[in-house]
Amino acid sequence: MRKLIIDTDPGIDDSMAIQLALASKEFKILGLTTVFGNVNIDLATTNTLRLLQLANRTDLPVAKGASKPLKGKFMGGVPFVHGDDGQGNTWQRPSILSPINTPADEFIIEQVLKFPKQVTIAALGPLTNLALALSKKPEIQKMVKEVIFMGGNAFCSGNATPAAEANMYSDPNAADIVLGAKWPITMVGLDVTHKTILLKETLSEISEFDSPLNNHVTEAYQFYQDFFIKVNKIDGTYVHDSSVFAYLINKNLYQTVSYPIRVETQECLSKGKTWPSLGESDHEERVALKPWKNRPKVTICIDVDYKKVIELIKVRLTNP
Ligand code: BDR
Ligand code: CA
Repeated sequence: MRKLIIDTDPGIDDSMAIQLALASKEFKILGLTTVFGNVNIDLATTNTLRLLQLANRTDLPVAKGASKPLKGKFMGGVPFVHGDDGQGNTWQRPSILSPINTPADEFIIEQVLKFPKQVTIAALGPLTNLALALSKKPEIQKMVKEVIFMGGNAFCSGNATPAAEANMYSDPNAADIVLGAKWPITMVGLDVTHKTILLKETLSEISEFDSPLNNHVTEAYQFYQDFFIKVNKIDGTYVHDSSVFAYLINKNLYQTVSYPIRVETQECLSKGKTWPSLGESDHEERVALKPWKNRPKVTICIDVDYKKVIELIKVRLTNP
């Protein structure tokens, strides 16, 4: 079983992703760390705790993380996508659980030092906690098994802006640090998540499975689905955060390429854009002059067997 830390900002699709991870025997979840993003850090933490309570997994530690990006302020989240409560305005009762006293970045460091070369970090929100952990303990980049993050857009347009994906846009400085660290890292971004659509009818089949967690997540999904149907004109929802676990469960479902990536950190039109260094510009003399010099390669998912991913999600959520 793969030892896993889930870094998350629930968020409706984060909730389904957590449900998928909890339902998958491939993972031994060491804990969850929370980050601002879709909602503020307090809501992200409460929502995470509530999901675990609904799943009857109160044994799992939750470590509260960053409330704002490395530079600047938290800009207020995206209530029009995830609801004012981050859970599709389902307004569940607050969780009876509490986060542990260790902050997220320290929890990550602690677990990586405890299980060298064994911990996978699945990051579903802005990469601030990972950047903070790296700045406190740079050695962890050599000790983590793998980092897989949902975010970025290598060869397609963004969703937060025409240029950038939401998680990268929320903290581009953290993203640029994390993508420059010398650990095996994979980007599961819009290049594949926009090809993976959970159709309305599939969600409705999933919602027939009766469990406290599934009932909550599928109810919250109605709000999320309404947003995509209205704004993106698709007949369902893009599968963002769950794609990280689909990739970890079966990497053969994804086609990848590897390039160094820089993230635009300036306050400009392309803030948050993930820029791979491609083909001809990889020529040694050119790269030597550029900001991509000495950056490690990032594995970038560029295509996906989306039918199999959707089937995987459906089977796991309805037969946990
Ligand atoms: C990402 O942004 C958030 O809204 C989702 O939870 C996902 O992590 C998609 O761009
Ligand atoms: Ca997320």
